[in-house]
Amino acid sequence: MTSTGAVIWFTGLSGAGKTTLARALEVCLYEAGHRVEHLDGDAVREHLSKGLGFSREDRDTNVRRIGFVANLLAKHGVIVLVSAISPYRATRQEVLSQAPRKLEVFVDAPLEVLTQRDVKGLYAKALRGEIPQFTGISDPYEPPLLPDVHLRTDQQSLQECLEVLLQAAERIGIRTRVRA
Ligand code: ADX
Repeated sequence: MTSTGAVIWFTGLSGAGKTTLARALEVCLYEAGHRVEHLDGDAVREHLSKGLGFSREDRDTNVRRIGFVANLLAKHGVIVLVSAISPYRATRQEVLSQAPRKLEVFVDAPLEVLTQRDVKGLYAKALRGEIPQFTGISDPYEPPLLPDVHLRTDQQSLQECLEVLLQAAERIGIRTRVRA
């Protein structure tokens, strides 16, 4: 099957479910016959963005690097899934405006839920003041004003979120498995 290049960008606070959702969608799109790549903030920071911190400047550099690679791959027919906090609205818009096709996905859950989940134990540390500039606690997060997809991971199951994502992918011309 010929793939339609696209960038599907998951933005949201740490622990909201960006990586989990991107991985689940990656499997579905791969099984539907597409060429898919997943660029995850944590992984990119180990390689392409090694050494960058969490100042606004460094986060913007990180997001622009991810966007650069994502757009290159998308131009060649790859469906690129990005999961990164990417807290600044203008920077997300800047990189997404260059994508041949794009979806901005807001992965949303209330901060109280995220601090309770605290999968990586980072919220507890940030609340104790041990992590400076922690997104949502001591650093800003600018939610998308008009996301293509808005998911509430405290209210919708993974499967429900996946259905919404597959429908959104169809809307931008990506063929997916038809689900009941
Ligand atoms: S972004 O802001 O530049 O888009 P990115 O998604 O790459 O962030 O990295 C976020 C991950 O870095 C978090 O999931 C968390 O594991 C880790 N992290 C470490 N310090 C911070 C911090 N100060 N703010 C947010 N995340 C942090």
